[in-house]
Parts: sequence; structure tokens; C-alpha cells
Amino acid sequence: MISPVIRRPRNAELPACRMLLPEAFGSPTRDFLLAVGQEAPYVLGAATLLRMPGALDGVLIRVVHTHRRQGIASRLLERMVDEASTLGASKIAGWIDALSDPAAEGFAAARGFHRVSRATTYESAARPFMELYWSLRRRLAERGRIPAAARVSALKDADRVAVARLWADYIAPDPGLRLDVIAHQLSAGSYAESPVLFSGDQLAGFLLFRSQGEHVTIDARVVTPRFRGRWASIVLTAAAADEAARRGAERVVFTWLEGVRDTAKMASRFPGEIRALADRYERSLGGRVPKSEDSAALRMVEAASKVRVNHHDR
Ligand SMILES: CC(C)(COP(=O)(O)OP(=O)(O)OC[C@H]1O[C@@H](n2cnc3c(N)ncnc32)[C@H](O)[C@@H]1OP(=O)(O)O)[C@@H](O)C(=O)NCCC(=O)NCCS
Repeated sequence: MISPVIRRPRNAELPACRMLLPEAFGSPTRDFLLAVGQEAPYVLGAATLLRMPGALDGVLIRVVHTHRRQGIASRLLERMVDEASTLGASKIAGWIDALSDPAAEGFAAARGFHRVSRATTYESAARPFMELYWSLRRRLAERGRIPAAARVSALKDADRVAVARLWADYIAPDPGLRLDVIAHQLSAGSYAESPVLFSGDQLAGFLLFRSQGEHVTIDARVVTPRFRGRWASIVLTAAAADEAARRGAERVVFTWLEGVRDTAKMASRFPGEIRALADRYERSLGGRVPKSEDSAALRMVEAASKVRVNHHDR
């Protein structure tokens, strides 16, 4: 068994890091580790993580094919766990795509992680999706079910503080969402045209979507409990469909969490393909219990949307 050195990458090694962990580049501040051997190919594996208060999150490890099953990923993980204990973190967590990385599940199970949620990402033709929501909205309007006070604005024109509060309440605590990805897209301005729904002055929800070429991706949808089960979700999604149509979207990509039956059921109405099975894995480290698990996520959205939110001042 080879014994690589585990250390932080040097500048010249960043391209190798990027090749092994392309999905980690472009995310907010991450730490990287490399496993380096004594002879070519030298870089045998790489790992990355996000430091959150009380936890190490977004853990991702990749080992070159020729050197798998030699304990390299385990060594990289051990180093991260050591760092976690120095930091007093109580948990180490990450995402695995069970579709593209079939080895991950066995590794995670062997190293003491357990799966806490699964997010299924689905892609289908945009037209039937948009038409369904337009027809649902039309039906509601014909029956007078959409209150006159209902109003949709684009995220860029909405009250960012109020939106950030909804984020903190409904998105940040959810272990099924890729917060780092969403926060990054927020800071990049990708969601600027996303619809935010009001009933009078009251914020009823928002939907975060972005487009890339012919694809529109819905990353998150929130409706506050008061407005659930009625018109709000349909008006919000139909508004996103209006914008998607303006952009000439051909394909729609959306994600649902295990247990969210209505979205899974909705997917079954549109022929399409599963694009990713994002499984969240966690391992408890028995460190101190962090005060607020979602505070790091909240900080991300604060930074991303350049607002200050006092989480407890609601
Ligand atoms: C998953 C991955 C990182 C494992 O790297 P590795 O260096 O081969 O892992 P290790 O040698 O440390 O494996 C430790 C244990 O995990 C389990 N394991 C690793 N790969 C496995 C596989 N393909 N199938 C089942 N179990 C596996 C085994 O129990 C293994 O111990 P053993 O070899 O003594 O049986 C590697 O396959 C990889 O890079 N895959 C693509 C990226 C990925 O899936 N990353 C997810 C982790 S965040």
C-alpha cells in the first residue's frame, strides 16, 4: 500500500485540483487538501470542504481511478476529521451524486456517514411544464381565486431583507438543499429575475431560478405556511414560466426532496430524465453542539445579497 503525503495544494497544483474537483471551483471559499505520491502521476487524490461554524460541510473527495481502494480517500478524510476536532466541529457532512459517483455510497458507509436526505434533479421539456402552470393559473383566475392583492416582483426589485429572512427560515435549515451552490448563484446575480410573491405588503414566497442557454433551473421554491395549498405556489411558478418563455427556454430542470410527493408526482406527468441524485451524508464527531446550525447559511445569504439580517429580531 502506498503512503501519499497529505497536504495543502501549492499554487502550481491548483489546475490538478480543479481537474479532480471541478464542481468545487466557483463555490465560495473552500479549503483544499491533496494526496501526493512520490512518482507520477504525483497528485493521487484531492479533497475540499467548507468551514461552517460547528461543522465541516460540502466535503468532496476524489481519487484518481488507478489508485482507488488503497486507502487514499480515507487518509484525506482522516485529515479533515482531525481538523474538525481542532476546530471543535460536531459534524462533517457532504453531498454525493449517487448517479455519477456510484463508489461514493460504499465509501461513505464504510467511513461512518449516514444518509440524511436525497434530492432528485429532473430534466424535461419546458413547454409542457410552462403550459401546465399557465393553465392552472388561468383556472384559478377564472374562478376568482387569486386575490387582487397578489403581486409578483423580480428578486432584484424586491425587499432583499425580507427575502433573506424567508431564506433563513425555510431554506437554510433544510439539509436537502445545496446552500453553497444557491448562495454562490445569489452572489453572482443569477437569480435577479426570479419571482417574489406578495399579498399586499406581506411576502408570500419566492422561487429561485436561473437560466443557462436553453435550460432553466429551479433551485428553490418557498411559500410561507399561511399561503400554502392555495394559489401562491401556482402564481409563483407561472410567473417563473412567463420569464422562462421570454428567455426562450427549451428545457426545465427542477429538484425535489425525498418525501415531497407533489413535486415527484408532477415530474411523473412530464417525460424526462433524472439528471442527479444528490445524497446528503453526515457523520457526527461528538464535538460541541453549535448554537445555531443555520447561522452559517444565513451569513452566506447575507454576504450574497449584501444585507444585514438579525435572525432573532423577527
Ligand atoms: C469514493 C472514492 C473517493 C473512494 O476513494 P478510495 O481511495 O478508493 O477509498 P478508500 O480506499 O479509502 O476506501 C475505504 C473503504 O471505502 C469502501 N469503498 C471504497 N470504494 C468503494 C466502492 N467502489 N464500492 C464499495 N465500497 C467502497 C470500502 O469499504 C473501502 O475499504 P476497503 O478497500 O478496505 O474495502 C473514490 O472511489 C472516488 O474518487 N470516486 C469518485 C468521487 C466520489 O464518489 N466521491 C465521493 C466521496 S465525497
